[in-house]
Amino acid sequence: MTNRTFTMIKPEAVAAGHAGKIIDMITSSGFKVIALKYTRLSREEAGTFYEVHKERPFYGELVEYMASGPIYAAILEKSNAVEDFRKLIGATDPAQAEEGTIRKRFAESKAKNACHGSDSNENAEIEGNFFFSGRERF
Ligand code: CMP
Repeated sequence: MTNRTFTMIKPEAVAAGHAGKIIDMITSSGFKVIALKYTRLSREEAGTFYEVHKERPFYGELVEYMASGPIYAAILEKSNAVEDFRKLIGATDPAQAEEGTIRKRFAESKAKNACHGSDSNENAEIEGNFFFSGRERF
């Protein structure tokens, strides 16, 4: 699984019509889409997905935001996927993201930052399993 990562295109980026451009940046950078879903998280599901951040001051805001509208969820494949994808999305805070990154181009703020990328191989596996069954991966 070391060559897979998980991503979500977040509600504000979807609402702004950026999903197609973001998916194009992802595939143009050499990532293969293994699974893809247009869906919406309930508050409860968003709370579970981000449970690791439960003690952080921004947790409530994060859960509300992630449940505020539809998202795209995807599993991506590429060698060194987790690290390379985090480079492609850029820093959490778009003000610190490098030119050419997804967040530099599309993120509104540190909270509404356009795109999620798993931070480890272990979390990529857990997060992909949260959204996709085995028969939804190709
Ligand atoms: P993501 O990569 O999905 O992982 C955790 C998310 O929490 C992060 O993107 C942001 O959307 C959000 N987040 C992180 N830090 C802050 C912060 N300081 N204020 C608000 N939201 C944050």
